[in-house]
Amino acid sequence: MTNPVVENHLTADHLARALRNDVRAGLAGPLKSLPPKWFYDAVGSDLFEKITELPEYYPTRAEREVLRARAAEIAAVTSARTLVELGSGSSDKTRTLLDALRDNGSLHQFVPMDVSESALRAAAETIVGEYPGLAVHAVVGDFTEHLALLPGDSPRLVAFLGGTIGNLLPAERAKFFGSIREVLEPGEWLLLGTDLVKDPGVLVPAYDDAQGVTAEFNLNVLRVVNRELDADFDADAFEHVALWDDVNEWIEMRLRAVRSMHVRLPGAGIEVDFAAGEELRTEISAKFRRERVTAELADAGFGLSHWWTDSADRFAVSLSRAE
Ligand code: AVJ
Repeated sequence: MTNPVVENHLTADHLARALRNDVRAGLAGPLKSLPPKWFYDAVGSDLFEKITELPEYYPTRAEREVLRARAAEIAAVTSARTLVELGSGSSDKTRTLLDALRDNGSLHQFVPMDVSESALRAAAETIVGEYPGLAVHAVVGDFTEHLALLPGDSPRLVAFLGGTIGNLLPAERAKFFGSIREVLEPGEWLLLGTDLVKDPGVLVPAYDDAQGVTAEFNLNVLRVVNRELDADFDADAFEHVALWDDVNEWIEMRLRAVRSMHVRLPGAGIEVDFAAGEELRTEISAKFRRERVTAELADAGFGLSHWWTDSADRFAVSLSRAE
């Protein structure tokens, strides 16, 4: 049998249509927004890697601390045969979990899922080389759409790390947790990384760093739209905004037009106007409390089994069981 298997649910055509729809839906109304998933072309993914190393951006380091401390316990509690990793960005987290599951003796299959075929293929090949005997079945897909297709023997452990759940709006999160629960059998597992509510004096700089890397990351979405939809956004005429919304308990990233502008997006078949000072929302990054995580998971049919935080209580990794 071939190893790795790479299964692709995302054609270039599908992606182009999805971007077009998102841009049309997001820029048409009076409150302009774009979904954060379009940040991550090759340039955006590199910028995100740089963000994870910034002194202000604590979540990656905090989550790594928890995973390293708890991986053996996660393996012992779940005895997972299959590790499914959604949005499987960093190989560092993957290895921490794979090592622990291998040492536990239960691991048989690894199913990484990501939207980027090139990143996924490279990662899958490296893992196959490092874990002899491990069956790797990579799925190129959008985790908000293609969950129904996840392979793997039971019990599966689905890992959704990095705090990416915070990029979904509450209604989208409910739908997402519901669809994960649907593909799992009772007794299978969800490992979830959530950034926690904390002092805005810590949160805001994490999204507005002194070196301006996050600002570049934010502006990159305009470059993606320009390239993919032949649009003519002047990225120099937008400035990066990061703010804490303490009612919704989320960070919001926006791009503020410094002057009025008319933008053509022929690939989406629209033209849009920006008033001077008008803002385009590009990301929410929700921060959580234990009660909210427990409640949202319970609503979807998961029972919280373990809740672990880093030594500074900045970030939580929770393990839940499908009921
Ligand atoms: C990788 C989605 C978790 O929301 O913190 C980093 C993305 N945005 N800086 C986050 C991000 C701005 C990040 N996630």
